Amino acid sequence: MDALRFNADEIYQMAENIEDHGIRFYEAARDAASKSEIRELLGRLAEMERNHKARFTRMRAELPERDRRNEISLSLEEASENSDYLKALAESRVFGKAEAKALADLPENDLLIRALDLEKDSIIFLLELKEMAASLCGKDDIDAIIREELNHIRMINTRLAAWSKS
Ligand SMILES: [Fe+2]
Repeated sequence: MDALRFNADEIYQMAENIEDHGIRFYEAARDAASKSEIRELLGRLAEMERNHKARFTRMRAELPERDRRNEISLSLEEASENSDYLKALAESRVFGKAEAKALADLPENDLLIRALDLEKDSIIFLLELKEMAASLCGKDDIDAIIREELNHIRMINTRLAAWSKS
C-alpha cells in the first residue's frame, strides 16, 4: 500500500495555510461587522493569527535539513488515516471573494459562531500536526500555539455570553 507521506516542510506549510485562512476569515469578518467592539475583537484575532503564521514560517525556515526532507514515519494504518485527513483539512481551507461576500450578509452573532468553528478546526489540525511532528523540533511551539487558539475560543465565548445577557 502506497500511503501518503509528508515531510516536515510540507507539514509546516499546511500549518501556514491554516493560519492564513484564519487571517483572511478574521479580516473579512471584521469588515463585515458594524459594532466597533466586534470589529476590534475580530481585528485583534486577525493580528494574532498573523503572528501564528509568522511563527510557522520561521519554524519551517529553521528546520534542520535532516528534518526538512525526512518523511514523517507513521504506521501504514495511521498514515492512510491521518495524512489523508490532515491534507483534506488543510485543502478545504479556501477563502476567497465569495467567502468574504457570504460573511457580509451574516449577523454579528453568526460571525462569532463561525469564528468558533474555525478555531475548533484549527485546534484539531494542530493536535493532529503535533502527533505527526512528534519526532520533530518545534513541538513546544505547537503546544504554545494550541494554547493561544484555546484562548481565542475563550475570548469569543466571553463576547457571545455578554451578548446573551444584554
Ligand atoms: Fe485562533
